[in-house]
Amino acid sequence: MRPRILPLLALLAFTTGPAVYAFQGQAQTNEAETADLPAAEEEELDPADANAAPFPPGRHAALTKRVCTECHMANMVLQRTYTYDEAVRFYQIMVTSNTETDEARAVIEYLSTTLAP
Ligand code: HEC
Repeated sequence: MRPRILPLLALLAFTTGPAVYAFQGQAQTNEAETADLPAAEEEELDPADANAAPFPPGRHAALTKRVCTECHMANMVLQRTYTYDEAVRFYQIMVTSNTETDEARAVIEYLSTTLAP
């Protein structure tokens, strides 16, 4: 009895097992693909930062727009990209030498991430 049922179980495990796992795996990756970037970004993005046109959407876009368009048009800011060091340098030249404030950190983050090279 035992020798006869074992191969049957093995066959069952072989035919149904991998199929179930494959299906679950596919369901998971599909979910991850659709739920991944756009949803996660929108979730944490303040509406003001998503609608700070012509500044591209990004964390602190609205604040950067306000700070960096006080003296000139947005296109002056948007005509180039900023590495982290360049963002720090531009903030210091244009606004103030103190980059230890929340505002400075936020503007520098926006310039060097959303407007990164
Ligand atoms: C206190 C006024 C003021 C503020 C605030 C200001 N800028 Fe400027 N910015 C200027 C002036 C003045 C110029 C030179 C304008 C010209 O050449 O016609 C300039 C020019 C620029 C230029 C083009 C010149 C170059 O060297 O490439 C960029 C880029 C720029 N600003 C970026 C910024 C950014 C980024 C911010 C926000 C962190 C900012 N500005 C905030 C006054 C300001």
